[in-house]
Amino acid sequence: MQKQFNIEEQLCFCQKTLGKISAKKLDVLNLFCIIYIELNGEFCMNTAKFLTKPPQSFWMASTPASDYPVLKEDLKTDVAIIGGGITGILCAYLLNKSGLKTTIVEADHILQGTTGHTTAKITSQHGLIYNKIKDSISLEIAEQYAEANESAIRMIEKTAKENKIECDFTEQSSYVYTLRDGYADKIRDEVDTASSLGIKAVYLEETPLPFKVKAAVRFDHQAQFHPGKFLRALAEKTNKSGGLIFEQSRVTDIERKGGYVLTTKQGKRITAEKVIIASHYPCYNKAGMYFSRLYTERSYVIAIKAKEAYPGGMYINAEEPARSLRSQLSEHGELIFVGGDHHKTGQGVDTVRHYKALADFAHEFFTVEDIPYRWSAQDCMTMDGLPCAGYFTSDTPDLYVATGYGKWGMTNGMASAMILGDLIIKGESPWQDAYDPSRKTAAASAKSFISENLNVAGNLIKGKIQKLPEDVDVKPGEGKIIEAGGQRAGAYRDEHGALHIVNTTCTHMGCELNWNSAEKSWDCPCHGSRFSFRGDIIEGPAVDPLDMDTDVNTVKKLIKEDF
Ligand SMILES: Cc1cc2nc3c(=O)[nH]c(=O)nc-3n(C[C@H](O)[C@H](O)[C@H](O)COP(=O)(O)OP(=O)(O)OC[C@H]3O[C@@H](n4cnc5c(N)ncnc54)[C@H](O)[C@@H]3O)c2cc1C
Ligand code: FES
Repeated sequence: MQKQFNIEEQLCFCQKTLGKISAKKLDVLNLFCIIYIELNGEFCMNTAKFLTKPPQSFWMASTPASDYPVLKEDLKTDVAIIGGGITGILCAYLLNKSGLKTTIVEADHILQGTTGHTTAKITSQHGLIYNKIKDSISLEIAEQYAEANESAIRMIEKTAKENKIECDFTEQSSYVYTLRDGYADKIRDEVDTASSLGIKAVYLEETPLPFKVKAAVRFDHQAQFHPGKFLRALAEKTNKSGGLIFEQSRVTDIERKGGYVLTTKQGKRITAEKVIIASHYPCYNKAGMYFSRLYTERSYVIAIKAKEAYPGGMYINAEEPARSLRSQLSEHGELIFVGGDHHKTGQGVDTVRHYKALADFAHEFFTVEDIPYRWSAQDCMTMDGLPCAGYFTSDTPDLYVATGYGKWGMTNGMASAMILGDLIIKGESPWQDAYDPSRKTAAASAKSFISENLNVAGNLIKGKIQKLPEDVDVKPGEGKIIEAGGQRAGAYRDEHGALHIVNTTCTHMGCELNWNSAEKSWDCPCHGSRFSFRGDIIEGPAVDPLDMDTDVNTVKKLIKEDF
């Protein structure tokens, strides 16, 4: 009997082979569909199917939800920690162990931020970073960075063992490979530099992957784990030994008064001798000018079920576009995580195509049977590639920050917690120079950040909506910028036909937001704040939701001292 194809499958076939074609001709093409899908169809059908479900992170789906209380009373603490991602939880765990009273204040629920959307490779191999640091900064700083990240791997392993946490921790080799001739020399240089720093690095011309590579560098004794299982258990342990955790208590203000006073969105106050800003992008603008030094990049991950067994190991390529691989055991069997395809937040066009690109890659090398999960997230990037962990500025001795992990926050999160723990308890850390937020290289980079990013803000600030348009041509599921009376607003029509209109001026510092079609959110191209189609904050340094009434003027905000 002749197999029939639904419109989605037919369209998929048409787009892939013939480009745009009228719907009337689809019937005629049914026969071709049979042949095409018999040969190539699995990809099309899986692609179409997996994109119809909303994105969901595997880690979040397989980690029990947390339910810590909202802060309802003012309190005093030794160290207040803003943010309950890997950084906040590890800082609380280490400081609590040293006898300090810690309080985590989380805007949402813990582990729902970037840590809940990672790929969780635990490695000191961060692309080809050691040669870059050696050439652009110094060998000594490269050495500190290597030692901090290698120590972080062993510290995660030790912490999981000591606390008997079952978090799927397994030792793995980590590879950077290239498919291009031009990168082989860079890989050879990385092997030499990493080896000179004491890392066991090996040059290869083959890897266990099911495709040929031009060259690769392998680091041994690296690892992978389930970050949700590891960090939920540590949060619970810290809480049981006196460390407080409050959820849905966004910090909206930080005042310096001897120590510090934090105010939450419910108006409750925490008085703390010391404060750690572990909010991912720093939510404090009064000092440090972080908004002129950090940008954010979004990356995408799909979890595939493949017919073939995964060969083991963790992989990333050296060139663009980035492609990252690791496997993970799940109750559905072995999953392979395929990640990459990054772009600056708020600057991607038709973001759904990034998932499609990863599916294309997966299909090329594996027999893809299903794509049960997909998710995307963003991380903070510095201009020199090194994170910031230390004093918020050189004249704020009781205010600390940890950010800018450049998509390597599993080891950098642990290394940062160890650095901040040492600074708070002993006053110094062996790795403080490499991570110093006030380092000269980062300050010098502020100039290039401004020239690269401020034009974006300037171009996008086009004014705000004055009245709602009555008739807007926005299809269900679609979001777009609309013009009304020469003003700009964001419109999204939900599946039930209701239209949601927001002021697309970011409440952080006034840049104009762009629609993210993959996640159905309004994303800021300047510092990565993201808002739901209703205008609620999803993530980023903004502390106020979007609305239609508040006029956020960039210039006024930039010169105001108290935001
Ligand atoms: C797709 C992707 C893959 C990655 N893969 C890897 C990998 O394989 N290996 C690796 O090492 N790294 C990886 N990373 C990087 C790593 O996941 C991140 O660097 C790390 O999770 C960041 O942790 P964090 O604690 O700084 O931030 P988050 O996990 O985002 O935590 C910050 C928390 O602060 C809260 N917050 C924000 N503002 C406030 C406020 N005003 N008041 C109170 N709370 C607030 C947020 O709600 C959030 O819960 C990846 C990143 C991405 C995007
Ligand atoms: S996140 Fe800074 S202006 Fe939007």
